[in-house]
Amino acid sequence: MFKVCIISCGMIANNAHIPAFKKFRDDYEITAVCDINETAARETAQRHGIASFYTDAEAMLEAENPDVVSVCVPNKFHKEYTIMALDAGANVLCEKPLAVTYNDAKEMFDCAAKNNKVLMACQSMRFTPDRLAAKEYIDKNGIDDIYYGELSRIRRRGIPFWGAFHIKEISCGGAFIDIGVHMLDALVWLMGNPQVKSVKAVTMQNHKDEIGSLKSSGALAGKVDIARKFDPDEMDVEDFSCGMITFENGARVSFKVAWAANMPESSDIRLIGKKRGIYLPECDVFYGEDEHEKIESQKLLYDSPFAGHFYIADNLRKVLNGEAEPVIKPEETLNVTRIIELFYKSAELGREVYLYEN
Ligand SMILES: NC(=O)c1ccc[n+]([C@@H]2O[C@H](COP(=O)([O-])OP(=O)(O)OC[C@H]3O[C@@H](n4cnc5c(N)ncnc54)[C@H](O)[C@@H]3O)[C@@H](O)[C@H]2O)c1
Repeated sequence: MFKVCIISCGMIANNAHIPAFKKFRDDYEITAVCDINETAARETAQRHGIASFYTDAEAMLEAENPDVVSVCVPNKFHKEYTIMALDAGANVLCEKPLAVTYNDAKEMFDCAAKNNKVLMACQSMRFTPDRLAAKEYIDKNGIDDIYYGELSRIRRRGIPFWGAFHIKEISCGGAFIDIGVHMLDALVWLMGNPQVKSVKAVTMQNHKDEIGSLKSSGALAGKVDIARKFDPDEMDVEDFSCGMITFENGARVSFKVAWAANMPESSDIRLIGKKRGIYLPECDVFYGEDEHEKIESQKLLYDSPFAGHFYIADNLRKVLNGEAEPVIKPEETLNVTRIIELFYKSAELGREVYLYEN
């Protein structure tokens, strides 16, 4: 039985992490939660029948001595709490984006290695019916020759208005690292993790006064405690971005990511290889002059809007029991983090930025 502690009690802790660990109750027991907001900590513990709550993470780690810690704080605090938990002897699931600079991500993985613990970024959107099916198809058919791709992640009116996603000081960036990071993670995973060479990116802000529903802004379970009122004047991150990533192997990927745009909602990935071209989420495969195949999308194993977190919790218990490898690998997350870092540098400098410049 692995003892689990949760650091921070916001939307994702309540709707994804805690339900996922509880699903595998034969292997996990959540012994405590923690949040600097005492009400959030107390109510979360009561809501889920968890024995203890804390407002101080260090005190919780000292008292509970957990095997596993979920780090669900806003992005700015990911590194601090991840390192604290690893050094306290826990394995860590840290929310995405793990970090926004390569050096921070490397420091976190080095700390995990030093302590002989597992650290996984919660890249939960790999686990969608189409992406799971595509990965299986790609592995089975040896498609390792992808030379061009496209990502499109569009929300109509989906600027998150709970928490502090819109404030750079706390979230470290906008739509690109909030929803774009899921697409990047899925992309490098499907492409076999080619190393990034350069990024050319543009960021914009066009819709900060137009707020939609909780669900359309990512609180998929539709329930959050809104601790502070959204103030559009505080928004200093992008709600739209576009650009192109070039990989060391010559492959190119163009992308557009929007929290808000006058376009249909999309979570599309297009991959063109010499042998096959793959369209997601439609699960269409094209080749030859007019050949076309439909991949059967996979039925998700868990009935939750945050099913990906259940896959990750399931994988972690198997890793800790010596039965599996981490499904989200450090080298993939480090590559994604490099792309994020180059993305924001490029947007700031207004030109293509190469990895060798770092
Ligand atoms: N994987 C996914 O699909 C997914 C979806 C949503 C959010 N997230 C990620 O989860 C993280 C949290 O997002 P959320 O939606 O739960 O946000 P939220 O605003 O609902 O919750 C954040 C919580 O952190 C607490 N907090 C803030 N600073 C803290 C500190 N220094 N120490 C301890 N607690 C602190 C706040 O009191 C709040 O309860 C973010 O990194 C976000 O990117 C991931």
